[in-house]
Amino acid sequence: MKSIKEEENINNKKILLRLDLNVPLLEGEITDTTRIDKILPTLNFLTSQNAKIIIISHVGRPKGKVVNELSLRPICKDLELKLSQNIKLISKDVKEINSQDLFNNNDEKIVMLENIRFYPEEEKNNPQFAKHLATLADIYVNDAFSCSHRAHASIDQITNFLPSYSGLQFDLEVSALKKITSEIKKPITCIIGGSKISTKINIIKNLIPKFDNIIIVGGMANNIIKYLGNNIGKSIQEENSDLVIKEIFLLSETEHCKLTYPEDIVVGKDLNGKPQIKELNEISSDEMILDIGPKTINMINNIIDESNTILWNGPAGYFENPSFANGSVEIAKKIIEKNKSNKIYSVAGGGDTVSLLNNLNAINDFNFISTAGGAFLEYLEGKELPGIKALN
Ligand code: 3PG
Repeated sequence: MKSIKEEENINNKKILLRLDLNVPLLEGEITDTTRIDKILPTLNFLTSQNAKIIIISHVGRPKGKVVNELSLRPICKDLELKLSQNIKLISKDVKEINSQDLFNNNDEKIVMLENIRFYPEEEKNNPQFAKHLATLADIYVNDAFSCSHRAHASIDQITNFLPSYSGLQFDLEVSALKKITSEIKKPITCIIGGSKISTKINIIKNLIPKFDNIIIVGGMANNIIKYLGNNIGKSIQEENSDLVIKEIFLLSETEHCKLTYPEDIVVGKDLNGKPQIKELNEISSDEMILDIGPKTINMINNIIDESNTILWNGPAGYFENPSFANGSVEIAKKIIEKNKSNKIYSVAGGGDTVSLLNNLNAINDFNFISTAGGAFLEYLEGKELPGIKALN
């Protein structure tokens, strides 16, 4: 995989730049611009090198049809404002565009093609479609790590038709992920939460052999608490999770990875209920587990203290209600404290974890925050992502 940073001659070259500008839109307004903000250094780098940029992205899932609400127009406008330059959005059918149609005006440095998922060929990874896209440019750059788990034409097939490179954000994402999967500074700890253990089982199984500690918190820990013979009342739980849990316990034993789960918890009668700290064997049938308790926080803090690397994916409780956010906030504070004295390398990812850290204004206090959802999780499962394979 070669990075565009290593390519010396991009002066005046036309670059087909795949970005992930899939940001949340509400009635045409962008509600979170994080993905746009993160890509600005790449665009600034390429324009400073005098390259001409053709942006390709998708937003939403239009399923191969033109859906006006999923136009890239508001995103294009936001980028124009942030870069203080005009960006032409090309709405014409991409299959009817040819390279002479682009950059006729000397001031034109960046153009954007309309939502690439308006074309069914994109998700079908159609080679003819990719070949046509390739005729528009000299070089292809993938700076959409978060789409690289998709074998789509603008991620995968396109690399068969143009010299292909990774982008600046892509490089940062892969380098951070390597530090928690293949180039680890031990001891390494994973704190994993979320509501369903079955959706994270492949990650846990892939990480156990490499990690010193796996800490299971959040809704998925309820299944373990129940497996250990406790009543978990009205807490969220998953049917038939016992086999999965048994497998995790066995594997962690053979691989000498310490498994940690809540020792005490905070319950409420409902999501807006009064918080009450309880021992695991004290939960009543009309209560639900909504956070970890102080003994558990203490135990996790001690493990963080002894770790050199931390991966955090999934909050410790129902943090949307401040009464049940304490566990997640304390974990964040402890990691930040160690980060500030450079004693730890920390990576966080996953929608809920990122929004928790956003709420705490702590996004810059971690070494790396991944905004990739599915791609981040699949990488942690040990899968080879089609986008990475194609660049390799
Ligand atoms: C994401 O938001 O994770 C990427 O943009 C990929 O989107 P998708 O899940 O619709 O393929």
